[in-house]
Formats: sequence, structure tokens, C-alpha cells
Amino acid sequence: MKPPQIYVERTLAIIKPDAMNKAAEIEDIILRNGFTILQKRKVHLSPEQASDFYVEHYGKMFFPSLVAYMSSSPITVYVLAKDKAISAWRELIGPTNPFKARETHPGCLRDTYGKDQTRNAVHGSDSFISAQREIRFMFHDNVIEPIAAGQECKDY
Ligand code: PPS
Repeated sequence: MKPPQIYVERTLAIIKPDAMNKAAEIEDIILRNGFTILQKRKVHLSPEQASDFYVEHYGKMFFPSLVAYMSSSPITVYVLAKDKAISAWRELIGPTNPFKARETHPGCLRDTYGKDQTRNAVHGSDSFISAQREIRFMFHDNVIEPIAAGQECKDY
């Protein structure tokens, strides 16, 4: 008989180019906040891939700079699991604008590591549907299994 399957919510997290030098610190915060890292991958997106990933923002004034920035150098992408992972990760990263984050969510990741609205250190899926799409986008059909903190990334 198969053991019962327990579903734990998953979200996609990204450490953006400006915060890659703080990846170990951020990973430590992720774990201390009770998330399990199910997958981790370092990737350098092409402009086309970045455009596809952020397609919901196509047409907005910031779209070209967002795409240029996210394809400018490598990022690290994670699948995180936790009860209510999507909202918990969004709460931990704080508002998009680090200056606003500093006022309303002092100590959040964007307050600590963000520099401006573009170089805001981290990304998090904003809904269940986005999380499903973004996880599939970054990890395709790879089997998701827990990995230990500090373990080497699979791809570059
Ligand atoms: S919106 O319009 O409210 O949905 O946009 P927002 O959630 O604030 O931001 C969506 C993502 O776009 C990035 N962003 C920017 N990039 C470059 N330049 C400017 N001015 C800019 N403003 C917002 C922002 O960092 C968000 O990225 P993610 O990775 O989704 O956090």
C-alpha cells in the first residue's frame, strides 16, 4: 500500500543579480524561517527567457529594463516548501520598492538587501497559479526532492 501523500504548498523564489553575492546569507534566512528547499538551480536567462518569465508585465513601462536586468547575469532559483509558502515568502521579502519596504516592513529581505525597484534582491510568486507556472518554467519536469543547505547547484 502506498503511504499517504501530504501536500505542502510550494513557491518559486529567485535571488536576483544584485543579491547573488549574498546568496549564502539569504539561503540561511530561508532555512531559519522554516522553508524546505526542494530544488535549487543557478541560471543565466537569455533576454527571450526573461521576457517569457515576466510576460504578465509585457507592455508596462518598466518591462524592457526588468528584462535587461534579469538577463544581465546569473540568478539562483529555488522551489521552497512550507505551509502557506506563497504568502509566507512574499511576507519575508516585503514590498517591491526597498525604500517603501524600509518603512513598512523593516528587516524584510528587500529592506536588507534591495537597492531600488529594479535591483530589489529577490522575487516570489504572487499566487498559486503563478507559482505553478513559474516552477514549471524554471524546473520543467524535473523530479522535486529535498536538497541539503549549501548543496551544489545542478546547472549553470
Ligand atoms: S505591478 O505593475 O504592480 O504588477 O508591478 P510590481 O509588482 O511592482 O513589479 C513587478 C516586477 O517588476 C519589477 N519592477 C521593475 N523593474 C524595473 N524597473 C522598474 N521601474 C520596475 N518596477 C517594478 C519588480 O521588481 C517586480 O519584479 P519581481 O521579480 O516580480 O519581484
